[in-house]
Amino acid sequence: MGGSRLSGTVNVPGAKNSVLKLMAATLLAPGTSTLTNVPEIEDVTIMAELLRRLGCEVTQAEGVVTITVPDRPDHRADYDLVRKMRASICVLGPLIARCGAADVAVPGGDNIGSRGLDMHVDGLRRMGAQVSNEHGYLLAEASQLNGANVFLDFPSVGATETLVMAAVTAQGVSILENVAREPEIIDICHMLNEMGADIGGIGTSTLTISGVAALNPVSHRVVSDRIVAGTWAVAAAMTGGDITINGVNPIHLDVPLDKLKTAGATIERREDSFRVHMSQRPQAVDIVTLPYPGFPTDLQPQFIAMNAISHGAALVTENLFEARFRFVQELARLGADVRTDGHHALIRGRAELSGAPVEATDIRAGAGLVLAGLVAQGETFVYGAEHIDRGYAGFVSVLTDLGAQISRITD
Ligand code: UD1
Repeated sequence: MGGSRLSGTVNVPGAKNSVLKLMAATLLAPGTSTLTNVPEIEDVTIMAELLRRLGCEVTQAEGVVTITVPDRPDHRADYDLVRKMRASICVLGPLIARCGAADVAVPGGDNIGSRGLDMHVDGLRRMGAQVSNEHGYLLAEASQLNGANVFLDFPSVGATETLVMAAVTAQGVSILENVAREPEIIDICHMLNEMGADIGGIGTSTLTISGVAALNPVSHRVVSDRIVAGTWAVAAAMTGGDITINGVNPIHLDVPLDKLKTAGATIERREDSFRVHMSQRPQAVDIVTLPYPGFPTDLQPQFIAMNAISHGAALVTENLFEARFRFVQELARLGADVRTDGHHALIRGRAELSGAPVEATDIRAGAGLVLAGLVAQGETFVYGAEHIDRGYAGFVSVLTDLGAQISRITD
């Protein structure tokens, strides 16, 4: 139900896009590793199940996950789990490093376009792995991985993670260039170094990795979820609200917060929190999605939703996932004036949206549609809400606490 100004304080849990990879990385060391600040989201449960199938013992409770990795993990990740979550591919690197082989089903996951794996495969081949694609599985083998120089065509988050996890115990030095620099990549590199790896250049686009013989288990706190934080920030700006967002480093959101300022919001930044206050109808803002530190594609739907009720018009350019604009057809059902052409979307802001039934097609589209529903006149029903559960812990209760009129109809 639209119309409420959201206000209050929220705490941001650990990042989905970090914790899943950190869980996979624990495979690199036999013994018990502990992760804290873990979000209570569906994808963590799926990854826990995947690790169990590989022979690990996994416990999950109140933000803490413990993983006990056996001396000889299994090396096959089956389609029935991988199809639920594309991020399952992140076991590829650690499995080949630890077991000398990995059979990983080629993932499905978010419905946001064709997401290739060529850079993962090319990099592993350079390290000496034999990789083939048979019957929907990537089959990788290498009795010994060797350090290699790899230049990524594009700073892919997933390929960077696969190659870092493969390189940490390879024989010799790897130099990985044009790698992704997301805070989640920095997080996994720090954790691997805490486990005994030797990764230099963390946070830059060139990583130098000297392979070590073995890694040790670790206790590590997951970096906070900048995308969840950014979603609440947009919620404040769209509803003319005032939200303090705790437990996240605002530097990780430099570009989106700057865009909210351009839209008319007041942003107060502190070391590990920030406040977003909006007292007027937003001004539409152009955005261009890019690898970090550029504008994150995972906040693009939320910003399109904000532009849909802003003054003026904005051009949004999506450079990472071509199918991400599918969600604008749903937004149009709420009365938004949005036209897409290739990887551009032109949004002409409307004074009002009107509630309607809509369908969430992926996690961030779901979040964007709920935000639009919070300002639309009347009731909006968001179908496919289970997508949102994959990435947001307690989404409905957080919004209710902030004053939103929202309820969960089915589980
Ligand atoms: C991760 C995030 C996702 C985020 C994205 C970009 C997780 C679980 N997901 O996805 O939320 O939107 O980063 O910030 O962390 N590509 C290739 N070949 C490859 C690898 C990638 O062509 O070998 C293409 C993909 O098809 C896509 C683009 O590169 O178009 C970006 O992919 P990548 O950066 O790898 O994103 P993910 O790791 O899939």
